[in-house]
Amino acid sequence: MIEIMQPPVEPFKIKVVEPVTIPSEERRKKAIREAGFNTFLLLSEDVYIDILTDSGTSAMSDNQWAGMMLGDEAYAGSKNFYNLEKAVQDILGYKYVVPTHQGRAAEHLISRYLIKPGQIVPRNMYFTTSKMHVEIPGGKMVDTVIDEAHDPENLHPFKGNIDFEKLQGYIDEYGLDKIAFVNVEMNVNMAGGQPISMENLRKLREFCDGYKIKVIYDITRSSENAYFIREREKGYENTPIIDILNEMMSYSDGCIHSSKKDCLVNIGGFIATSDKEIYEATRSSVVIYEGLHTYGGMAGRDMEALARGLREGTQYEYLKYRTNQVRYLGELLMQANVPVVKPIGGHAVFINALEFLPHLQREQWPGQTLSAAIYEHSAVRTMERGAVSIGRDSQTGENIFPPLELVRLTIPRRVYTNTHMEYVANSVIDLYERRDTIPGLKMIYEPKHLRFFQARFEQMTL
Ligand code: F0G
Repeated sequence: MIEIMQPPVEPFKIKVVEPVTIPSEERRKKAIREAGFNTFLLLSEDVYIDILTDSGTSAMSDNQWAGMMLGDEAYAGSKNFYNLEKAVQDILGYKYVVPTHQGRAAEHLISRYLIKPGQIVPRNMYFTTSKMHVEIPGGKMVDTVIDEAHDPENLHPFKGNIDFEKLQGYIDEYGLDKIAFVNVEMNVNMAGGQPISMENLRKLREFCDGYKIKVIYDITRSSENAYFIREREKGYENTPIIDILNEMMSYSDGCIHSSKKDCLVNIGGFIATSDKEIYEATRSSVVIYEGLHTYGGMAGRDMEALARGLREGTQYEYLKYRTNQVRYLGELLMQANVPVVKPIGGHAVFINALEFLPHLQREQWPGQTLSAAIYEHSAVRTMERGAVSIGRDSQTGENIFPPLELVRLTIPRRVYTNTHMEYVANSVIDLYERRDTIPGLKMIYEPKHLRFFQARFEQMTL
């Protein structure tokens, strides 16, 4: 029997509300068919609880909104850029920052500078846009995460850790000159929001120093990762989150950031580094693809909200509430035996679709099927994170069927109440009780890149 924690106490009160309604059963049925059973193609107004993503969906604080009014909309030298630079220096310890409009733009600039055709990028685990930006300049991303990360039941506290034998294996197989850099994601999204330990980061630095390989982080969910280090790693029980973050970053050569997650803003991203060469190369290319290096695709007001959000998102009480709200939802589902990835991650609860819908073949896209069924059942919008998301092998063109076929229930920050979490849990549990009535899907349209965003499906007969 799972012991359910008390609903977490919110460290804020609500000043502005946005009305939402539950569309009728008839409307939901029609809406999901019009969307080709792809939750990315639903209209937001047809959704009651939107847990598609935690990206750009946060509620900003009064302090951030006040900052929006102080936007210095100068083309060059906006004071908000310097506030952002200072926040990056204080919180993360990097010297330089190159702003971009969001994370994938930062991935683009780093990849085009560091990757040559035929090179590989070992990473703990892939993320969709990160993989794409490695492939565009002719590289290949390879998985070096510990085996435990691929097992939804395994309770390892740091499932985002790198397996050094796997990493060594790639160096031996491809040769040192074929390693563009090692890429490390914090709170690994596709593994279920699972953290990497400080010990593993420190070891990776030593390992890469031995070969003179650069280490580039994806710090999109690094504050949540830092919280887990404090909770789970010996020696960090009383360390301030900012000190943990500073230490984490000190083991890297630079990072990319999608600020739309941990930084509590609706848009934004950056590259940060203390390496002058990486800085100069990306500062030079940002002006081609994004905008001048003191705004890089963001308005002054967006940089101000980001500078403030970067600081706010590291507050211990906030991070405790944030991760506990996700855990609360996870425990409600676990208590009803709904198969979820364990331990519950930082930003989302991931349902194991292979266990939820064992009557479906992999070619019937169980993750996609379950995500569409949850919407039709209760107007809750979730996202597939499995075979549709990973796409095809870039060399053979064959579908890849990864060990994890998941549906992600991704919780926006400071947006939904604990009662909303209970509505989601009750809806999923209700559907679980009649799971064998859910028919699979057939893919009828597949775009060339990042197919999960726009693919369309048809329902098969049971
Ligand atoms: N890296 C990670 C780990 C991400 O989760 C994302 C986006 C990106 C990079 C790209 O950043 O969206 O700002 O361009 N993740 C979103 C998600 C889309 O729903 O998980 P972006």
